[in-house]
Amino acid sequence: MAFLSLAERSRLIAPSATLAMGAAAKKLKSQGIAVMDFALGEPDFDTPANIQEAALKAMRSGQTHYTPPAGIPELREALADHYTKRGLPTKAAQVVVSNGAKQSIHNALMAVTGPGDEVIIPAPYWVSYADLVRLTGATPVIVDCPESQGFKMTPDQFRAAVTPRSKLLMINSPSNPTGAVYSKAEMEALADAVLETNVGVLSDEIYEALTYGDVTAHIFATLRPGLAERTITISGVSKSYAMTGWRIGWAIAPESVSKFMGDIQSQETSNPCSISQWAALEAVVGPQDDVATMKKAFVARRARVLERIAKLPDVTCVPPDGAFYAYMNVSKHFGRTLGGKPIKDSTDFCMTALEAAHVALVMGSAFGSEGYARMSFATDMATIDRGFDALEKFLA
Ligand SMILES: Cc1ncc(COP(=O)(O)O)c(C=O)c1O
Repeated sequence: MAFLSLAERSRLIAPSATLAMGAAAKKLKSQGIAVMDFALGEPDFDTPANIQEAALKAMRSGQTHYTPPAGIPELREALADHYTKRGLPTKAAQVVVSNGAKQSIHNALMAVTGPGDEVIIPAPYWVSYADLVRLTGATPVIVDCPESQGFKMTPDQFRAAVTPRSKLLMINSPSNPTGAVYSKAEMEALADAVLETNVGVLSDEIYEALTYGDVTAHIFATLRPGLAERTITISGVSKSYAMTGWRIGWAIAPESVSKFMGDIQSQETSNPCSISQWAALEAVVGPQDDVATMKKAFVARRARVLERIAKLPDVTCVPPDGAFYAYMNVSKHFGRTLGGKPIKDSTDFCMTALEAAHVALVMGSAFGSEGYARMSFATDMATIDRGFDALEKFLA
């Protein structure tokens, strides 16, 4: 008899591919190899000093105990105020603060989906969506949204995917991995299609502060009357404030849902880290100058990345309107030999780029779309340049 045989659930999820790619890169680094790492979606900046100070102050003033499960009232109120001012009237009771937006998404899915339900996910999608849906027993319904339509879902695609079992649509604008941002008109058209149905929406807006040129991100729930009642809005401090390790994200949901999400959290993790919550409060209500400085750096990096991609043989890229990823179309290299290895798909491409050129990218297949390699430009300019020098040689 096997002891501790794994639950059926173990078949449903795979380790996060981005973290797996990061681990492969780390392994090479531990062997003394200088890897140019573009795999992780993690800003390289230090967390702004005022936020660090707020954490120190919290620690020193005894804010080191359990907090209410859904978060400290100060942060929930500040977030309610923040969303209300931006056109989404929100009560503090509708805000649930969690250990990162990833846990917010998990809690939200646990709260509203289960066996028999379908969750519509436009692809390319962020690696964790499909597995988090499966973990609840629901079925992800992946809808391919190709490059020719800017990697965005059309209202007709949504309508065609809806069945009597559809519970939720998951959208992510600005998008990881493509950087696509729905325009207001595109989002409104999708919202209208949603309003024809009984389907709810999980709108992951974690990259909302990072858009380029005159593009802006929109809070989905604000676009039409009636959307807020069926939408769970997700965001957090990881990407906008370089706070990935602090683990603070949040959800804004109708009160019945936020109440249950808080109850789930109370049984799962008790509460998000007390000190991080005080730091996140400072991030949300404090000066925003560092956000502007970081954004400026991303603007310059994006420009350099696009300029260098244009010089790579047989690689193209739809310029990202938001987030900090370039989703490179590398499919022309399939069927060729690179670094001495035959390349048939995005996994071969990325694994060989890592082994032969020491450049870490993430394969498009991890995001539910074949033919692409995602490069995160949340890294310094010198590394970006060295990475492209290596890729140029690799592809020559
Ligand atoms: C689209 C998207 N949603 C959510 C998250 C999770 O962020 P957090 O660090 O707050 O858990 C990420 C992180 O990579 C992301 O890219």
